[in-house]
Amino acid sequence: MSEVTQAVPAAELFTPEFRLDPYPTYARLRENAPVCRVRTPRFETWMVTRYADARAVLSDPRLSKDIDRAGDLYLQVFGEKSVALNRNMLNADPPEHSRLRRLVSQAFTPRRIDALAPRVQQVVDDLLDPIVPAGRAELISEFALPLPMNVICELLGVPVEDREQFFSGTQVIRTQGTAGRSNEEDRAAIQEAQQNLYAYLTKLVGNKRDRPGDDLISALIAARDGGGKLSEEELVSTAFLLLFAGHQTTADFIGNAVTALLTNPDQLDLVTRNPDLLPGAIEELLRFNGSVPVASFRLATEDVEYSGVRIPKGSIVTVVLNAANHDPAHFTDPDGLHVDRTDNPHMAFGYGVHYCLGVSLARMEARTALGTLLRRLPNLALEVAPENLRWLPAASSFRGLLELPVRFGDT
Ligand code: HEM
Repeated sequence: MSEVTQAVPAAELFTPEFRLDPYPTYARLRENAPVCRVRTPRFETWMVTRYADARAVLSDPRLSKDIDRAGDLYLQVFGEKSVALNRNMLNADPPEHSRLRRLVSQAFTPRRIDALAPRVQQVVDDLLDPIVPAGRAELISEFALPLPMNVICELLGVPVEDREQFFSGTQVIRTQGTAGRSNEEDRAAIQEAQQNLYAYLTKLVGNKRDRPGDDLISALIAARDGGGKLSEEELVSTAFLLLFAGHQTTADFIGNAVTALLTNPDQLDLVTRNPDLLPGAIEELLRFNGSVPVASFRLATEDVEYSGVRIPKGSIVTVVLNAANHDPAHFTDPDGLHVDRTDNPHMAFGYGVHYCLGVSLARMEARTALGTLLRRLPNLALEVAPENLRWLPAASSFRGLLELPVRFGDT
């Protein structure tokens, strides 16, 4: 085993250049420091960038996601007030994880998701109707964000009139580091927004209990009241997880996918002329620039070793999915976009027991969104040079654009 390496200050990695294009940094790390200890202002983490190590970490039972096991470390990273919000499957190990996931997964089977497709198409068309005649648009705020927000709200049963409140709460969290707030102010604003959303969801669960609807929250209440399978706290924080997991991930991905196609015109042309390529193209776009660049933190419950580097018990481990997805040991021409790539076992949706629960929904939304954009917005092009696009801060948990100005039209 090699000795523990010196920690790299996060600021050295997360530079302005990284924000624009993180892939050269990922390549350097994969090559020279595949398991790299990184120090942020509040905690230290071990970043894993190679594909084989990423898979090994995400399926290693010695690495825990249990919020209680992480104890003080969790509080240090996320803050005390976020514990109640996070009593859900993403922060649990088997067998608790299986209990929390099973009830929800019934709502996300490919068959159920297929049944939602016409409704998603309707939401897409309603959003595009006012955009099409204008000839230009800011696709993040006018399309990519409202689409998954409306879909997940509809699935959960959030009434239309309450969605604006939901939206502004999630935006505080999304724009972390971009609104001119200090780190501490950001943290306080996020915690406040999370508390408000949690209070709202608690009230919504109460309302659904009195007047059940044909929605996921009502179904979870029935499952809970029937067999006592979910505590009230777990129920609310599961709704909270679905809202977050199902919203920004998909919005950012749609923005990243459109940008990747517009900056690779030969690939845009290929998929526009061959719509049958779209499902495979979506997998390639997920691999090329996924919206969840890092998996959530794991805690080493004993000493572990990857690529010859020992990570001591009690450490936080972070898998960089977007780095693993560009590993030349696993993908031919990893930095090139090939919409007709066939063998594509990317990890944009994670790996192991926490593999994305919403994968069918995400794929269906992306297919509908991109397919319709390509059809209804001919000659789609960026309004700004690619290097002037504004990406989320380098240290954000998401990879996405703040704005995506485009133009289109017949001439
Ligand atoms: C988990 C990515 C859309 C629900 C995950 C994970 C990733 C991911 C990487 C694993 C996190 C980890 O291991 O730490 C994505 C991407 C999406 C997307 C890239 C869109 C392009 C969705 C949607 C939903 C959803 C639409 C539906 C509500 C979930 C849930 C988990 C999860 C509930 C936790 C699963 C568990 O802990 O067992 N997602 N996701 N995701 N995702 Fe997604």
